[in-house]
Amino acid sequence: MRRCLSHFFTITLSIWTAGNLLAQVPKPIYNEAKIPPHELPDPFVQFDGTPVKTATDWRTKRRPEIMEAFAREMYGRSPKAPSHVTSKLVNRDKNALGGKAVREEIDITLADGESPLTMRILIFRPKGKENVPAFLTLNFGGNHSVSSDPGISLNKNWMRNRSDRGYVDNKATEKTRGTAASRWPAEMIVDRGYALATIYYGDIDPDFDDGFKNGIHAYHYDKGQEKLRPDQWGSIAAWAWGLSRALDFLETTKSVDASRVAVFGHSRLGKTSLWAGASDDRFALVISNDSGCGGAALNRRRIGESVTRINTSFPHWFCDNFVKYNHNENALPVDQHLLIAAIAPRPVYIASAIEDQWADPKGEFLSARNADPVYRLLGTDGLGGKKPQDESPAVDHALKTGTIGYHVRTGKHDVTDYDWTQYMDFADRHLKK
Ligand code: GCU
Repeated sequence: MRRCLSHFFTITLSIWTAGNLLAQVPKPIYNEAKIPPHELPDPFVQFDGTPVKTATDWRTKRRPEIMEAFAREMYGRSPKAPSHVTSKLVNRDKNALGGKAVREEIDITLADGESPLTMRILIFRPKGKENVPAFLTLNFGGNHSVSSDPGISLNKNWMRNRSDRGYVDNKATEKTRGTAASRWPAEMIVDRGYALATIYYGDIDPDFDDGFKNGIHAYHYDKGQEKLRPDQWGSIAAWAWGLSRALDFLETTKSVDASRVAVFGHSRLGKTSLWAGASDDRFALVISNDSGCGGAALNRRRIGESVTRINTSFPHWFCDNFVKYNHNENALPVDQHLLIAAIAPRPVYIASAIEDQWADPKGEFLSARNADPVYRLLGTDGLGGKKPQDESPAVDHALKTGTIGYHVRTGKHDVTDYDWTQYMDFADRHLKK
């Protein structure tokens, strides 16, 4: 009870503080004419001014310094992988989705010790097949929100309240089953020969600012350490680290081919999938759905959500060093096109929605466009064709024939069947044998 109360006060206090601080953040801009003057960091010039001329220069010098800058200044440094992962089957249905799929949930240990931390992965995979390619993702509302299949366990961890959907007292109720199913077309995914693997992101780190007392962070403190250092991992990096642990687990299974896993995420979890994909090159394909600020959108444009705003509303997402760039984006040694470039030459797909101006669709396209030369240096066709197009494609006209995919679709901030259709078309070209 004491713990509950103190949790309640921590959350209430952080909401109150965030509300007050937010009032001091300048109004978002949506007008291109108001974008502050800026120049993007050149992918082909090292921080000390040395030019990058070859693929080897990129691989051995430029990419490592870019990744180091993203880790130190923005997402925070993550701990190394544990030496092994342990896992335990929780439930299995050999006739899920009307008989076409096998559904399983497995607990994966993230941290051992007196009170171990586990995350629970839900997998739907085509029945009678082994070694299938997969989409690995985190979800916002618990595995049970992804499908109304009553065999899926109801997640008991902390959840953000949303009483209209049945999330009350920071818990999921039975009413929340299947509430996010429109974002997770499991049947369509299985029909196309892929597995869908998903984990509740709060299993890894609950998404509120409590000074990193809960979730995975505290397990990695040094002896006597009580607080993260300014260059240590925020929540996004922790969620990404959890995705890598899920991949460690998939490497131990026969049902999924771990060398053909696409990491996918929406919104804050799209920021996460990009950081996971850049940090762990075992991910064969990377997908960002409406990831916006801190994801695919260029920071220097300041359209919609800005660095100042995101650091104020969500102080736990990035490392503390990132605060240095509030109202000061031009001082950032990197921008988000370099995050996309760090994924090269592996395929990456960036998707925007035209009504989601908060996430700056044009800024997301420009990241892809400015990463294109790196993809080409590494021997791929980047955005496709002999020369990349400079303009964002028309709404609902996906660019999906190259190694960088991009679309901006009709509608709002969401994940739709249209999005999934493009991802699977893209994955068919890159992940199918
Ligand atoms: C907020 C936040 C975004 C984030 C989004 C989400 O809108 O400002 O940065 O992408 O939440 O994750 O739903």
